Amino acid sequence: MSPVLLLAAGGQAAQDLSTFDPVSPPAESIRNLSLLVLAITGFIFIVVEAVLITSIVRFRQRHGNDAAEPPQVYGSQPIEIAWTVAPALIVMVIVLVTTRTLWEVNVKPPEAKPGDNALYVTVVGRQWWWEFDYGQYNGRSLGFVTANELHIPASVEDVARPVYLNLKSADVCHSFWVPRLAGKTDLIPGRTNQMWFQTAERGLFLGQCAEFCGPQHANMLLRVVVDSPEDFRKWLENQQKPAVEEASARDGKAAFLAQSCINCHRVRGTRAAGNYAPDLTHLMSRQTLASGMIPNDPDGKNLRDWIANPQTIKPGCLMPAFGLSDRDRDRIVDYLRTLR
Ligand code: CUA
Repeated sequence: MSPVLLLAAGGQAAQDLSTFDPVSPPAESIRNLSLLVLAITGFIFIVVEAVLITSIVRFRQRHGNDAAEPPQVYGSQPIEIAWTVAPALIVMVIVLVTTRTLWEVNVKPPEAKPGDNALYVTVVGRQWWWEFDYGQYNGRSLGFVTANELHIPASVEDVARPVYLNLKSADVCHSFWVPRLAGKTDLIPGRTNQMWFQTAERGLFLGQCAEFCGPQHANMLLRVVVDSPEDFRKWLENQQKPAVEEASARDGKAAFLAQSCINCHRVRGTRAAGNYAPDLTHLMSRQTLASGMIPNDPDGKNLRDWIANPQTIKPGCLMPAFGLSDRDRDRIVDYLRTLR
């Protein structure tokens, strides 16, 4: 890749993760608060530095002027009052605005009901990937599980489509952070946290686990895809279906079901019913593997490498290399590629 392209890609990524480019009400509230605090502290910084530099330059020791100290001032009530009251007022303003921001960010999810256009998803943080358990949309139960890529519907014109997340952890603390949609919210073992966002801007929004959770914390990537309501409906319809069996992959399916893959992974419609690792029912509908680390190319090249030895791609991840023969591996990949 040329340096210019690299720069462009870097710029794009930076924009994707910028808290200063919000597309959702909670992220906007947070951006506004940071700008206000930045303006106040910036003003204080400039005043303090100006006084400091003026004092250093104007009152420096000059040649032939090494007399005693200048006259000293001991105690001044006006100054004491000024430097107590001014910071107190500034802090009060920041406290009030922060409280309002917390209020806007912490919206308690209402009861789901038909016609609310709201999506409810339970997010489970795991070392080192995200599980998304789709609860309800527009008052209807969904009941499927997917991983690492959260699809949500876009708000359109007068119809807001809020997304409410319940955040849990299966192991250690994680933190759900998609900067352009909302602030960080931790996923803590034994506790359920909540967050919400909504956006009219379609496309891909990147995120990242934001709480150190072990050696692969930096590779616990997160993607939120905002679909048009129509695309989202189609996506839901597909995800709700069990896996479709294709005759050409019958061999591969048998190879898959014969391996210990099925103790951890689930493929709905088969006897693979593990719930410890990502649900593979519609694996090929996802753009990436290994929690956003590598593209899930339709030819299955990366999938083949991943199955051969996940540890070379994501060292320490909980999926071991199973030492499959080339033949078994190819058959399993052929089967997995039919799970669209
Ligand atoms: Cu999960 Cu860091």
